[in-house]
Amino acid sequence: MTKILMVCLGNICRSPLAEGILKSKVFDFKVVIDSAGTGAYHEGKKPDKRSITIAKKNNIDITSQSARKFLVEDFDKFDIIYVMDNSNYENVVKLARNEEDKSKVKLILNEIFPNENLDVPDPYYGGSFGFKNVYDMLDEACEIIAKKLNAHGK
Ligand code: 4NP
Repeated sequence: MTKILMVCLGNICRSPLAEGILKSKVFDFKVVIDSAGTGAYHEGKKPDKRSITIAKKNNIDITSQSARKFLVEDFDKFDIIYVMDNSNYENVVKLARNEEDKSKVKLILNEIFPNENLDVPDPYYGGSFGFKNVYDMLDEACEIIAKKLNAHGK
């Protein structure tokens, strides 16, 4: 059973989409998927309406998710921590207690563009075009992640 955590800043725009998209692509008996934010401003809230809308257009329901903050214990609970951008990376790695924790943290777009360290842009202050763009990037990254997970015999 592989346990994956998707992390962004607010846990209301990007990481809820990443969680919903990846869940839609994997065999759930093989994988646990959750999401969190490095900031706590939106704790307990549902995803942003614009994320809900773009997910729904793609037949994915993310309305039951609620935002929570990333916690140090998440390093023990998850095998891979996918962050959306370099600032999330810094914020999460700052909390790592050792090299093993640190090695779990990966930029999600490196799945598509290895070693390029690209950001999934923060769409919060932009229009809905931003959300479509984010959705498409996450869909492509999650497709690659899902192929690996589904191929694993665990
Ligand atoms: P997210 O987007 O990190 O993709 O959930 C944001 C949501 C809220 C804020 C920033 C980014 N905010 O500053 O409140």
